Amino acid sequence: MASANAVAFFFFVALLLPASLAQLSENFYDKTCPTLPNIVRAAVKKAIDSDVRAGAKLIRLHFHDCFVNGCDGSVLLVDAPGIISELNSPGNEGIQGLEIVDAIKADVERGCPGVVSCADILAQASKDSVNLQGGPSWRVLHGRRDSRIANKTGADANLASPFETLVQLKAKFAAVGLGTTDLVALSGAHTFGRSRCRFFSHRFSNFNNTGSPDPSLNPSYRQVLEGVCSAGPDTRANFDPTTPDVFDKNYYTNLKVGKGLLQSDQELFSTPGADTIAIVDSFADREGTFFKEFRQSMINMGNIKPLTGSSGEIRRNCARVNAARIGGEGHDVM
Ligand code: HEM
Ligand SMILES: *[C@@H]1O[C@H](CO)[C@@H](O)[C@H](O)[C@H]1NC(C)=O
Ligand SMILES: *[C@@H]1O[C@H](CO)[C@@H](O)[C@H](O)[C@H]1NC(C)=O
Repeated sequence: MASANAVAFFFFVALLLPASLAQLSENFYDKTCPTLPNIVRAAVKKAIDSDVRAGAKLIRLHFHDCFVNGCDGSVLLVDAPGIISELNSPGNEGIQGLEIVDAIKADVERGCPGVVSCADILAQASKDSVNLQGGPSWRVLHGRRDSRIANKTGADANLASPFETLVQLKAKFAAVGLGTTDLVALSGAHTFGRSRCRFFSHRFSNFNNTGSPDPSLNPSYRQVLEGVCSAGPDTRANFDPTTPDVFDKNYYTNLKVGKGLLQSDQELFSTPGADTIAIVDSFADREGTFFKEFRQSMINMGNIKPLTGSSGEIRRNCARVNAARIGGEGHDVM
């Protein structure tokens, strides 16, 4: 009786698991590419050694991959016959790090030819990007395959914009199965990297047609940013004015003093009555709480609608689908 109940319970729990969770696994490459974690970590470290922003660029690519048709490497495809690149979408305009992905892929192909997808490389490299800059580590799930299509209209519709309200941002996360805690935890990736001024300078004056600056932007920080941005809209500012290149909880302590860089950042703390405020408080209080949630939310994001089994393909060149090897190898540097 007891064991029959246990079996019934097991099947009941298995039914509750989303299909994607059941399909990706920690040991997917144990036989075919056991050195994958070492190869990727070494390649990410090499990239960071020559560009302190390399990790920030890589995790952002993973985010923009997963939000469009799931984590399937679609963001990496360039324009080609039959492919309208997602890189043409406003949300990806000027995105960087594609050549870093190509370098990691080249190292992986040398070690394990033809078996590791570009989508899995983005997921694995994101973990190292965070961990090498002082953040948490986690066991990355593998088994994603690469798409044979890009979805530019999907990118237009699904990618979050820094000008959106908290309600709109929550809706975009909900559309891919992510909740409010995921939104707050994953936004914490803005503890490193840079943003161009064009994405936040609207906060300096006549914000939202009020005739005044964004009231949630710390006035002395605003003056610093106005100084930085006087060099033009493509000037880059640090997301985190305190520890710009370290993955820590300072994103949240900054929000509490009005030093979120983007409108979409500060809204997490400054939207009156929002349920995100208590989450920001808890992450600002204890780095361990933030790291624990961030790990879980990265796994949740990495589980968005992957292609598995015999769907899609293992791209040889992350920039192009296998059948159409027209044009040069790799990405042009943006
Ligand atoms: C919540 C909605 C989000 C919005 C509206 C947003 C928006 C932006 C914008 C406007 C930039 C600057 C881009 C540029 O200047 O080219 C940026 C950079 C960045 N984003 Fe987000 N982001 C969001 C969530 C995320 C998430 C979930 C992650 C990762 C888990 C992430 C990671 C990054 C990183 C690391 C950078 C810096 C990249 C670099 O230095 O090149 N963002 N984001
Ligand atoms: C592109 O993305 C949109 C929005 O997520 C979706 O409705 C549509 O089915 C996608 N198209 C393809 C061809 O996958
Ligand atoms: C901007 O103003 C509109 C209309 O008054 C309002 O609905 C919206 O919430 C405001 N946005 C922000 C970020 O304050």
